[in-house]
Amino acid sequence: MKVTVVGAGNVGATCADVLAQREIANEIVLLDIKEGFAEGKALDIWQKAPINLYDSRTIGSTNDYSKTANSDVVVITSGLPRKPGMSRDDLIATNAGIVKTVTENIIQHSPNAIIVIVSNPLDVMTYCAYLNAKVDSSKVFGMAGVLDTARYRAFLAEELNVSPKDIQAVLMGGHGDTMVPLPRYTTVAGIPVTELISPEKLDEIIERTKFGGGEIVKLLGTSAWYAPGAAAAQMVEAIVRDQKRIFPVCAWLNGEYGLKDIYLGVPVVLGKNGIEKIIELQLNTEEKALLDESAKAVKSVMDVLDNMNVNA
Ligand code: LAC
Repeated sequence: MKVTVVGAGNVGATCADVLAQREIANEIVLLDIKEGFAEGKALDIWQKAPINLYDSRTIGSTNDYSKTANSDVVVITSGLPRKPGMSRDDLIATNAGIVKTVTENIIQHSPNAIIVIVSNPLDVMTYCAYLNAKVDSSKVFGMAGVLDTARYRAFLAEELNVSPKDIQAVLMGGHGDTMVPLPRYTTVAGIPVTELISPEKLDEIIERTKFGGGEIVKLLGTSAWYAPGAAAAQMVEAIVRDQKRIFPVCAWLNGEYGLKDIYLGVPVVLGKNGIEKIIELQLNTEEKALLDESAKAVKSVMDVLDNMNVNA
């Protein structure tokens, strides 16, 4: 299996490192536009192999897409990260042009690749990649739900003083302040979370989750990378190992949840064919209203992209 990670910044390099460390692919290509940057990071990851004992070959490339040829899965992390005070949507003008160029290059060398987008604003950059890849939407989708759910699960584990492994949850909607964590679908080792936590505390955790990315931007002056990189790697693993994992993924909707022609976070089955199924939950009125509100927010940024004429 061959996996390419485009963008050797913090998120891309972390993703490549997790892929190598867990031997998710035997060939990992890290590509960046900055001269020598991807080569340096790839070499460093490779030199860790004899210490941490893995045999995934990690190689770097400065913008030479021929090195990415015939990748099975490609993760696109390219683009500027957020600075304090910026919303993810503020990045659209710069990142749309970057994601378009990267996607075109990738598809030219790996026409059958499954593409996982990590660039922000996530839902709209996934749409941008889809428009430019011109392949089935089951093969172009975005990483956000795995990260946002992980934040929600981590906060719950901390509050309940239990292992994060035992927290199961679903979170839907866009990767932004309108994301929709779903308490009704949150359990702790099978126990409904509402039996273990007060409604006030749960509300607090939901709010903290929605702004979880921003909390880190405020602390670091740039956006997160350990959890985002690992989240993307976990999606790659589900694909290359054909695990049929159920994850919330930013997927193209075609009538599911009453929504059409939009990329939005929904639970899906991930396997070797990419998105193999979109799972439709029976949302109650309140949950559906929150999802619709999130869809509206994402759609308005998709409209900005449509009006920018960066797409073919
Ligand atoms: C975050 C960025 C990666 O949520 O969107 O941390």
